[in-house]
Amino acid sequence: TSATIAACAAGAAWLWTTSDIDTAGTIRFVNRLAVPPLDTGRRDGSGRRVFDLRAAVGSRRLRPGRPTPTWGFDNGHLGPTLRAARGETVVVNVRNELTETTTVHWHGMHLPASMDGGPHQPIRVGATWSPSWRIDQPAATLWYHPHPHGRTGQHVYRGMAGMFIVDDPSGGPPGLPGRYGVDDVPVIVQDKNFDGDNRFDEASRLIGGVGVLGDTVLVNGTIAPYHDVTAERTRLRLLNASNARTYRFGLSDGRPFALVGTDGGLLPAPHTTDRIQLSPGERAEIVVTMRPSERLVLRSHPPELGADFWTSRLTGGDDTLDVLELRAAPRLTPSPALPGVLAEPPRIGSADGRVDRRFELANFMINDRVMDMSRIDFGVARGVTEVWEIVSTDLLPHNFHAHGTRFQVLSVGGAAPPPELRGWKDTIYAPRQVPIRVAVRFGDQADPNTPYMFHCHLLYHEDQGMMGQFVVTEPGRSPGRPALHDGHG
Ligand code: C2O
Ligand code: CU
Repeated sequence: TSATIAACAAGAAWLWTTSDIDTAGTIRFVNRLAVPPLDTGRRDGSGRRVFDLRAAVGSRRLRPGRPTPTWGFDNGHLGPTLRAARGETVVVNVRNELTETTTVHWHGMHLPASMDGGPHQPIRVGATWSPSWRIDQPAATLWYHPHPHGRTGQHVYRGMAGMFIVDDPSGGPPGLPGRYGVDDVPVIVQDKNFDGDNRFDEASRLIGGVGVLGDTVLVNGTIAPYHDVTAERTRLRLLNASNARTYRFGLSDGRPFALVGTDGGLLPAPHTTDRIQLSPGERAEIVVTMRPSERLVLRSHPPELGADFWTSRLTGGDDTLDVLELRAAPRLTPSPALPGVLAEPPRIGSADGRVDRRFELANFMINDRVMDMSRIDFGVARGVTEVWEIVSTDLLPHNFHAHGTRFQVLSVGGAAPPPELRGWKDTIYAPRQVPIRVAVRFGDQADPNTPYMFHCHLLYHEDQGMMGQFVVTEPGRSPGRPALHDGHG
């Protein structure tokens, strides 16, 4: 087309237009990758790390023409990267300046159910919610996003999402790149559609019961982004914060990278691979090695969704999407070799054939039930390890996420898990008719009346009710009843 590249009025950055797609359909990367501001909070009198988040509407100049109305934390789009270390007690004051009730859920965090930010902790307009908990889990890349029942998809799509990095107080294994925004970079990937007025279009391409699939990929809210690489090795913290799309990331020249972490923390050892697939909600930390002056594109290839032909067609599975260009400087800071050992492998369960609970995902339900705020589906005894089996049985792709814990994958389709599933997980893709077994344990205090959620993290499915509730009880005790809020706080 003859469209021209327009200068961004606000920041003099160059904006992406159709002219930036060459004849081979490849995007030219013209916008410097935005890096969410790092927020390490402040210390209060009792040594707690205190964060303040403000949920509010905003706007962003994402494309030529009108600014895009957005929602977000603090900045009006996405949110700061919160960062704290294991052993610390954190407080997050979340003020809702939106026009409707929301919640903020700490995805992947182990914390008491009343702090979890699910649908049972609504924050009404004008109110401030101040959950507090002690961080007690391995270093990991977590994230936060709203979870109001039936509206999670809308709130996330409008821009409510941020990263939460948990550090190890010892600093973790030496040798991993760790300079935030320089060689340790958040990569929050979301696909969007825009309407004729540059608004996020939540309604179009709601395809085949899968949810909204976008034709434009944003990283940290940037379209067609590049990142200036200044070190030999760069760690990318990949977060699939999309509503429905599954990505299968690789590098444009096919070179391998090191997968060093997944949802719940570092892998036992770096795993060299050339692909990592992430369904919505999943994270991966990868380390990419580059030579001076080269350019490399982080690209998403058609995902492996399962044996079903029309499933992949329906989910945009045929799409190859360019996500982020990495531009190496003529001189790169030397990076140390990666450590051979990263973390203790998860060891809470063994594949001895026992299954304590089974979750069948089909027809927007789990085990033939639609989510009900007033129904507790089961109780789990505190401190007891259970084996859960998850299986998708309909024709749509699904994944499975459980709140308040992390799990160890015991088997996938009866076989030992592949290397990328050998670290801690909290969200896992469930290919059609492939049973997945995980070992899970809840160490936090029992609260028989406040539920945690388990659900499909394709947000349209979750909002349709493909979700359930469980509570953690003292051993031998029965679940109670959830106290229902009116949804306005
Ligand atoms: Cu990412 Cu129930 O959430
Ligand atoms: Cu689903």
